[in-house]
Amino acid sequence: MTEYPDEPELARRAVRAAGRAGFGRSCHPAQGRLLRVLAGGVAGGTIGETGTGFGAGLAWLAAGALPGTTLVSVERDPERHAAAAALFAGVPNVTLLRGDWTDLAAAAPFDLLVLDGGGQGKGAEPPLAPRDWLRPHGTLVIDDFTPMSSWPPTFEGEPDEARLHWLRHPDLLATELRLAPGVATVVARLTTLPGT
Ligand SMILES: C[S@@+](CC[C@H](N)C(=O)[O-])C[C@H]1O[C@@H](n2cnc3c(N)ncnc32)[C@H](O)[C@@H]1O
Repeated sequence: MTEYPDEPELARRAVRAAGRAGFGRSCHPAQGRLLRVLAGGVAGGTIGETGTGFGAGLAWLAAGALPGTTLVSVERDPERHAAAAALFAGVPNVTLLRGDWTDLAAAAPFDLLVLDGGGQGKGAEPPLAPRDWLRPHGTLVIDDFTPMSSWPPTFEGEPDEARLHWLRHPDLLATELRLAPGVATVVARLTTLPGT
């Protein structure tokens, strides 16, 4: 994985803890840099994340967040949740929940919401409804795609319905960003309802 000299110390520690546990799905540094940029646009608002893992992505988010911004992340795996909770113990504006991603709804609406462990609609579960979770003009990030090379994007030879759901969502303006070879993410902004 590419080394980034500006990787926040907490992200470094999260990735090391993940490595010790044999967990290889921590946030890629290129994704982290995107999260840090987006977090800096949330002045005094709320940032949410599903799937804390060991806390790498959350560390990038926290590094970019301006004073007065609160961050809430949820993780269902007890070991990962405990590791992340220990990592962020001294960071007062970060709250870690242990549970299912749907528990994060209690902290909604979000100015920025990162879907990295639930809510994406990638498995059998339906995707979340952005208008129920985001503030007006809120930003949604859906992580973990391989860069598309054709339209429509495909997954295992079939149209990638999960990705198409977000790219064509009527409540969102969405685009796919290619962040590194083999790493793409969808970034979307909630559109304004007519008359609001
Ligand atoms: C790709 S990893 C997250 C990586 C992490 N965000 C980071 O930046 O390093 C996905 C995580 O989502 C968690 N997860 C999966 N399904 C979940 C659910 N239904 N509710 C809560 N967490 C979930 C997994 O246990 C896993 O730790």
